[in-house]
Amino acid sequence: MNNRIYKNAFNLFLKRTNEKEVIIKFIEKNVNLDKTVNFLDIGGGDGSLATIIAKKVNNILVIEPNKYFQKHLKGKGLKTINNKWENINLDKKFDFILAAYVVTYFSPQKREQLINKMYNYLNPEGKILILSIDSNKGSWRSIHTYFYKLIGLNHNSSDDKLKIIINKYPNLSKQLKTKIIAKDVDEMLNILTFDFGRYAKDFIKFKPNLKKYLEKYKNKNGEVMLEMVHNAYLISK
Ligand SMILES: C[S@@+](CC[C@H](N)C(=O)[O-])C[C@H]1O[C@@H](n2cnc3c(N)ncnc32)[C@H](O)[C@@H]1O
Repeated sequence: MNNRIYKNAFNLFLKRTNEKEVIIKFIEKNVNLDKTVNFLDIGGGDGSLATIIAKKVNNILVIEPNKYFQKHLKGKGLKTINNKWENINLDKKFDFILAAYVVTYFSPQKREQLINKMYNYLNPEGKILILSIDSNKGSWRSIHTYFYKLIGLNHNSSDDKLKIIINKYPNLSKQLKTKIIAKDVDEMLNILTFDFGRYAKDFIKFKPNLKKYLEKYKNKNGEVMLEMVHNAYLISK
């Protein structure tokens, strides 16, 4: 998908969700963030989590391949590398590594190797937080399942396989719930573009079906609310 379309849809998503507040609360409760901590954010997006964490830690590096996000991150004064995690070579280690909703973008063949790469960049006593959307729970997930059925795609969520990889490391896992409230059905469809954009033609073709599907999530003001269930995996060294 075009980087700019992705960025616009993702920014709209960020505006309409309480996700960042919920995730930051979880991090503050479970990860030591102080002025001794070196922090690495992999796939930092627009840096909405990184900017909050940056204020609390010693230093921060964001890995982000999307050049529009990269510009945005630089504008916020964050140190960044414009490349994929696969291609990164660093000469330092970190106390906290965040991979928020990015592991699903790694090719399935490389996923385990790339998580191991994170572990190798972790200092003793350090922590990695991997976040993903649960493969079964929440109405955000249901509309995805509905869409994949419409387009005849046997979509296996990467979340199940992720659990198997993560359980090879000492970890703590917890489920977190967040909401996305769009002002109407059309706005929710715009938000969904950032996830369905890779199936752009089918997304356009099945828009009427998706519109109808979203009707049941409408309140009396016409707002549409979807719920996301997140899996938070905290790996320790
Ligand atoms: C769903 S967004 C999440 C952004 C951010 N972590 C957040 O929680 O708001 C996924 C991000 O991962 C980035 N990304 C995709 N593939 C990547 C890769 N191979 N290595 C690093 N980042 C990647 C995308 O450019 C995008 O910014």
